[in-house]
Amino acid sequence: VSDMLIDSFGRLHTYLRISLTERCNLRCQYCMPAEGVDLTPSPQLLSPDEIVRLASLFTSSGVDKIRLTGGEPTVRKDIEDICLRLSNLKGLKTLAITTNGITLARKLPMLKECGLTSLNISLDTLVPAKFEFMTRRKGHQKVIDSINAAVDLGYNPVKVNCVVMRGFNDDEICDFVNLTCEKPINVRFIEFMPFDGNVWNVKKMVPYSEMLNKVVGQFPGLKRLKDHPTDTAKNFRVDGHQGAVSFITSMTEHFCAGCNRLRLLADGNLKVCLFGPSEVSLRDPLRNGADDEELREIIGAAVKRKKASHAGMFDIAKTANRPMIHIGG
Ligand code: GTP
Ligand code: 5AD
Ligand code: SF4
Repeated sequence: VSDMLIDSFGRLHTYLRISLTERCNLRCQYCMPAEGVDLTPSPQLLSPDEIVRLASLFTSSGVDKIRLTGGEPTVRKDIEDICLRLSNLKGLKTLAITTNGITLARKLPMLKECGLTSLNISLDTLVPAKFEFMTRRKGHQKVIDSINAAVDLGYNPVKVNCVVMRGFNDDEICDFVNLTCEKPINVRFIEFMPFDGNVWNVKKMVPYSEMLNKVVGQFPGLKRLKDHPTDTAKNFRVDGHQGAVSFITSMTEHFCAGCNRLRLLADGNLKVCLFGPSEVSLRDPLRNGADDEELREIIGAAVKRKKASHAGMFDIAKTANRPMIHIGG
């Protein structure tokens, strides 16, 4: 029997996203309601030992990439310890983080020493006042500083995630493309997705085709790059630019056929699809003394329940899910 995490559609899962916390130092509108969300009491969150134990089950079943998410993963005080221990897991090739960059510039040298190999930083606008509107907090310059610090420390590419929303930042797409001119930055334009509490509306979502037209209009030298089959992004480069430009088209052209991702949430639930409501607790059996084989069986059964694809944006918007801040993308 293979221990590999293969679902009933033959997809091999080699990428685990671990949400370290439900807390965040920003309040982005597309991620959570203004009043915040209910937080899981801390004794019910996974400890570093539990995270490492569960992660090791995944890496010994073929997972070679772990991404730390949140909430905001860097607000967790034990992040360096967690990084160091995860980066030492046998078989792990990539230890990545998706962060809002607010406190990153300061922590990055240490995180790099702890084995962090890749960085995705969220930034939705180049205009400080718009940043404060979207995130309901200050800190635009800190994010810019973090992006520059990441480039200076040799991260290549530094991925910049930009959720595009109509009437908010769709007029800045070409300014973002200019970030790729002289630095190894990969700007990724993301279609706005519905989650509980984010007041999604199709009119606010800017489809991939429309974003692409804007970029091509101003940068005729845009060339399609070859994507990896499991990539979330469709990748391009403007001729002569050092960095790249990508589109994450979850809504208008989903990429579920190549999905290799599983999610371990901060409360220890395994979520096999970003939009699938099906979750199973790994924390409870772990705390009840389950051995590795028993945990592997629970994980394997959950993977087998994974659907071929999400249900389409209108159905997703009607189906209860968690708020994005609990899932970490
Ligand atoms: P790389 O590993 O660098 O390719 O990053 P990633 O795209 O896997 O992760 P990231 O956290 O940077 O997420 C970027 C966007 O892709 C976010 O909007 C995520 O919600 C979305 N995303 C990530 N994984 C999935 C997925 O499995 N399905 C869908 N539909 N969207 C995803
Ligand atoms: N739609 C698309 N992307 C989102 N993200 C957060 N909320 C949404 C949403 N509603 C992005 C963040 C971060 C990544 C984990 O997911 O900007 O970069
Ligand atoms: Fe994978 Fe679900 Fe995302 Fe599709 S929506 S790519 S199946 S996680």
